[in-house]
Amino acid sequence: MAHFVSLALLLSALSVSALPAPVCTDFVLPVTASANNIDLSSGDPTTNVTIPVSGTFGIELKFCEPTTVVASRAGTLQVLVHGASYDTSYWDFEAFQPDNYSYVRFAAAQGYPTLNMARLGSGLSDHPDPLQVVQFGLQIAIEEQILRLARAGSITALGRAFTDIILVGHSFGSSVTNGVIAQAPELVDAAILTGYSHFPVPASVFTVGGVLPASQVDPVRFGGLAPDYLTTHNASSRAAVLYGPVGTFDPSVLAADEATKDLLTTGEEFTFERFAVSAPGFTGDVAAFIGEKDPSFCDPSVDCQNIATEGQFYPNAKSFEFQIFPNTGHCLNLQLDAPQVFASIQSWLDRHGH
Ligand SMILES: *[C@@H]1O[C@H](CO)[C@@H](O)[C@H](O)[C@H]1NC(C)=O
Ligand SMILES: *[C@@H]1O[C@H](CO)[C@@H](O)[C@H](O)[C@H]1NC(C)=O
Ligand SMILES: *[C@@H]1O[C@H](CO)[C@@H](O)[C@H](O)[C@H]1NC(C)=O
Repeated sequence: MAHFVSLALLLSALSVSALPAPVCTDFVLPVTASANNIDLSSGDPTTNVTIPVSGTFGIELKFCEPTTVVASRAGTLQVLVHGASYDTSYWDFEAFQPDNYSYVRFAAAQGYPTLNMARLGSGLSDHPDPLQVVQFGLQIAIEEQILRLARAGSITALGRAFTDIILVGHSFGSSVTNGVIAQAPELVDAAILTGYSHFPVPASVFTVGGVLPASQVDPVRFGGLAPDYLTTHNASSRAAVLYGPVGTFDPSVLAADEATKDLLTTGEEFTFERFAVSAPGFTGDVAAFIGEKDPSFCDPSVDCQNIATEGQFYPNAKSFEFQIFPNTGHCLNLQLDAPQVFASIQSWLDRHGH
């Protein structure tokens, strides 16, 4: 009961007063990483032939230091990883009513520093070969390196070393999160997977929902990119995959989202399902948050209850919890329910001592 009272108070506070904005620094960090990617050069997406990739890649990081001081959270870093066709704006939606839709502002108001990254091939991060290089294997390796640097205190703009890392993903970003806690479980204390499940997405919903070469969709923004850099076609095809039904989102959010949409790659599409793995070595806390109207990751034949079985992939986790949000689509942060989603994430963090 106490939980619901505090939620109501929090929501009423959100609607009447502006959230204290954090102080943010946006920069591109050279990150050296290597992985065995899949050799997709034959055109066969099912091949198991691997190709080593390595290099130093510029990765856009946006670090936000809260102006609300909560001493117990100063050493905790929430690392935020966006999904396909997004960039840092997914977790820090500034284009429309940021007090309702920016998770970065919400977290800062609770005293959390955040490190919001643009995955390789998105935002201001480098855009290398979208078939052979920008794949999940390398994305996971890059994420691991960033977490190592943050724990070591080696990212100058962060100003310190962090001892508690909460990795928060959405969709493709949750797949990266899942891959990191499977491969390098010691780097993460708590994992939050939003808009994601191991339930197979038949033929990738992004293919079904119509993605096209980004250079064709928007020659002004994406004209120089190779055709394997992809994005959604238009606002209505975007809404069909990423949003719930009419009435569950504000059309102004969709318009702002469409205007700032970003990329995914063919290499990512073809390697996504390979990383729907178990993470038996992970001993931290795991939470799964999903919208009931998520066409990609909720299994409609069991009314989304496939999420309840996600704990099987984290057999040694300290805890596993899930929450399904009614009338909410795939992009939880951009639906009318976003403030409730954020409050639920906070309630979970509080209950697990993060
Ligand atoms: C690749 O490996 C998987 C898992 O072992 C197997 O199911 C699949 O058939 C292999 N693909 C090819 C093209 O050999
Ligand atoms: C948040 O959304 C509600 C409901 O749409 C709206 O009334 C309110 O003005 C928004 N608040 C801010 C700070 O933008
Ligand atoms: C929007 O994109 C979809 C999927 O590619 C396409 O079928 C539809 O015709 C497009 N609508 C407009 C108005 O361009």
